[in-house]
Amino acid sequence: MRIFITGGKGQLGTALQTTLAAHKLTAVDLPELDVTDKEALFTAVSDFQPDVLINCAAYTNVDGCAKDPALAYKVNALGAQNQALAALELGAALLHVSTNEVFAGDHPDGYEEWLPPNPINAYGRSKAAAEFLVRSLLNRHYVVRTAWLYAPGGRNFIHAILDRARNTGQLRVVTDEVGNPTYVNDLAQAITQLIETHQYGTYHFVNDGACSRWEFANEILRLAGLEDVVNTPILSNEFKRPSTPPPYAALRNVAGKALGIELRPWQNALAAYMQDHINH
Ligand SMILES: NC(=O)c1ccc[n+]([C@@H]2O[C@H](COP(=O)([O-])OP(=O)(O)OC[C@H]3O[C@@H](n4cnc5c(N)ncnc54)[C@H](OP(=O)(O)O)[C@@H]3O)[C@@H](O)[C@H]2O)c1
Repeated sequence: MRIFITGGKGQLGTALQTTLAAHKLTAVDLPELDVTDKEALFTAVSDFQPDVLINCAAYTNVDGCAKDPALAYKVNALGAQNQALAALELGAALLHVSTNEVFAGDHPDGYEEWLPPNPINAYGRSKAAAEFLVRSLLNRHYVVRTAWLYAPGGRNFIHAILDRARNTGQLRVVTDEVGNPTYVNDLAQAITQLIETHQYGTYHFVNDGACSRWEFANEILRLAGLEDVVNTPILSNEFKRPSTPPPYAALRNVAGKALGIELRPWQNALAAYMQDHINH
């Protein structure tokens, strides 16, 4: 297949270039291609003539989205719309990547794929709008929601916890934000399988199981041999930030499992990541 990836320098865009290496690929990102520039996007996509377009481009800074919702909408919703229109014009499919933050976070048992989005912050609203636009414009779409991504090399929750633990010997982490820590390599592998199926629709690709940020931090400390670091559980109202994360917004993968696409438990994925990238 010929595959065109936007946001190619980001965490997921980078991982996909490895898992999709058997295909004919092109990956673009800022500054050479801005997905909000419809004409430039149409030209680049039409020059390449892809079978599948994969939208990994996004404004992912949730606090930045809270401060500038118009910019969030422009990049996340209009950028997705431009890609859906380009795919439509060229007869390509679109795989659009979305987030657990399209949900309010009021489901302690987790969200299945068919539940309606009801976002509570600007990032989630821009991503929910993107999903709506993609679904309305293009039949041949995959909407893949994911959560709490971490990737080699990047600044992520794991590195933030380890830095703080090593520098201060103590942590305060929230218990009332629950999600699915997800290793980007596992997500990229699942997407690589999905685009072979032509089973269009909405999917939840996260590492299996869910935990709070506090439990996630405890597992990171355990794997790093830092169990003696004091990790105090706190509530999110003690940790104010511009964007309010959805409290209980874990995703459940039902549709992917029906196709035989499953991601390993988050604890196993985290152990593999730490083994390869932290504990040498
Ligand atoms: N990270 C997570 O925890 C998480 C969780 C759930 C869902 N997701 C979704 O998963 C997808 C991939 O996320 P990720 O973690 O790989 O994000 P990422 O690392 O932030 O990558 C996004 C890429 O898009 C680029 N970009 C931003 N604005 C653009 C524009 N106008 N035109 C073209 N490219 C632009 C960014 O460039 P700059 O860096 O230069 O801005 C960056 O290279 C996104 O749709 C995100 O919403 C992520």
